[in-house]
Amino acid sequence: MAAADVRPGEPADLDPRLEGTHIANSVIDLIGHTPLVRMRRTMEIEQLPSVLAMKMETTNPGGSAKDRPALEMILAAEREGLLKPGGTIVEPTSGNTGVGLAIVAAQRGYRCVFVMTDKVAPEKISLLKAYGAEVVVCPVAVEPDDPQSYYKVAERLTHELEAFRPNQYANPHNPVAHVKTTGPELWEQTAGRITHFVAGAGTCGSITGVARYLKEKNPDIQIVAADPEGSVFSGGSGRPYLVEGVGEDFFPAAWEPDLYDRIIPISDEESFLTARRISETEGILIGGSGGMAVAAAIQVAKEAGPDDIVVVFNPDSGRGYLSRVFDDEWMANFGFIRECDQCVGAVLDTRSPTLDSLLYVNPAETVRVAIERMRSNGVSQLPVCKNTPPFAAAEVSGAVDELELMESIYRDPSLMETTVEKVMGPKLPTVGVGQKLELAVRMLETAPALLVLSGGRPLSVLTRSDVLSYFEAVADG
Ligand SMILES: Cc1ncc(COP(=O)(O)O)c(C=O)c1O
Repeated sequence: MAAADVRPGEPADLDPRLEGTHIANSVIDLIGHTPLVRMRRTMEIEQLPSVLAMKMETTNPGGSAKDRPALEMILAAEREGLLKPGGTIVEPTSGNTGVGLAIVAAQRGYRCVFVMTDKVAPEKISLLKAYGAEVVVCPVAVEPDDPQSYYKVAERLTHELEAFRPNQYANPHNPVAHVKTTGPELWEQTAGRITHFVAGAGTCGSITGVARYLKEKNPDIQIVAADPEGSVFSGGSGRPYLVEGVGEDFFPAAWEPDLYDRIIPISDEESFLTARRISETEGILIGGSGGMAVAAAIQVAKEAGPDDIVVVFNPDSGRGYLSRVFDDEWMANFGFIRECDQCVGAVLDTRSPTLDSLLYVNPAETVRVAIERMRSNGVSQLPVCKNTPPFAAAEVSGAVDELELMESIYRDPSLMETTVEKVMGPKLPTVGVGQKLELAVRMLETAPALLVLSGGRPLSVLTRSDVLSYFEAVADG
């Protein structure tokens, strides 16, 4: 029997009663050894010249690839004396890494405190609490150096609780987890015949760790990063996108571009639609980032030869994204799917082509500029958008309205030269280009105008007079 002071996950923790059985000694022993499965039912994949296989990280105990670095970072901290028996782990995370850390902490007797913002979905908080972790929620609407901000609170708690902070973005043991486990598994499972490895990158731990191992075995193996459009890895400026868990607006410590042969940007739309298609046709439920990686892998596999084996890394399950990627209403509202034939888009199609490009004003432009833009284009509302087109939905920060501006300037004429961001109103309600016209009509009963989204991006502003002109055109045949 194992000695009382030997904890689960340690080599000495062997119980002779388990000998000859297939009973894992602890849940820690179930981390890794994930299956590799061929994909073959999706039409595009059926027609590929090469073999496309998925590394299914969903079979880790926490349901994601992050169990691997969580274990490695904790074991390394114990070795380095940063984490003592009964100690505390503090990490700002709401996602998969939190689950991995909580599982290992439960087995090895640590207290876990996770810090997150009040923007996080309640299920994510419940999930971490279910594993016995404590959760501290901070307001999202404060500056990063405010003492209440999520980073500052994590810093303070780490100090006060004398805790260990794994910091997966800077921790060298994060990629090491994949050098030690994921890389060798892929080499063994493909009998050394893997030719391409495709994965999304967030902390870059997975792609860099696997690349280090595989390139050592065979430098010809192609390492391909799939990246959300807008993320810095594929040359973007860090502009927002909707796919979760991948891409960044900075370069983490494990970013090692010399190891990557190719980086393929993939849009939110392609990521989400691929996730839905693969889940349906292959019976493998994947999330948006898995869909992104598969979309890139299909591009790679199309160019690969008949003897090639392309492996795509699926980091987690679609179950975590049921209220987004797999919710038809959410998808339609962002303009990713169509609900009908005669929908909002039909109204836009009948308008003057001069309204084809999105009219907007930047938050730093003056009220005078906004008024002139509205007047010269004959419109009464403009969305306020940061940066330059094509905008992400998250870059819309508000709206200006002719009537409201008139009233404000009447009270204070000096506002004419002030910046739009100081006077703008709330954002216009959004409607998807493929949503029912009936919905737009109902929304226009209370809102003067709607912002139409297509592929997750603002496309145009829809007003009551647009809808009336459309009805008139339909009536006139
Ligand atoms: C949900 C999620 N988290 C994280 C990652 C990225 O892994 P890493 O942080 O190892 O780069 C991915 C990659 O696809 C992911 O989908």
